[in-house]
Amino acid sequence: MGQYVRHVFVCTHGEYCPFDGSGEVHRLLKEQVAARGLKLTVRVNHSGCFNQCGNGPMVVVYPENVWYAGVTPEKARRILEEHIVGGRPVEDLIYRAPQGPNKNPVRMAEINAARKAAGRGPGGG
Ligand code: FES
Repeated sequence: MGQYVRHVFVCTHGEYCPFDGSGEVHRLLKEQVAARGLKLTVRVNHSGCFNQCGNGPMVVVYPENVWYAGVTPEKARRILEEHIVGGRPVEDLIYRAPQGPNKNPVRMAEINAARKAAGRGPGGG
């Protein structure tokens, strides 16, 4: 057993997930874990890229090693209640993809185009 019962990583430092709202997902999870008095048993961390760019926001929960993609604030609330607090992975939200890197080049191109239109390069926000 590690220092925490559950360890949650949110990709907030990759080049793509932040564009799709991972910062808000991280903030919500962190805030709600604290509000429930779970800071001694659940750790929510910022993370770098999981190599699933364009499928984000990506969230991973350990020790179950369950991955979630496209996590909106609404989905984050379910993941919090059912998995992080309740201990049951949210079956219908689980990210099922082949092992290793799985990038979504279509979404990545959309994000890059939107950044370019806004005058910002990759990693700019
Ligand atoms: S930017 Fe989040 S998985 Fe790559």
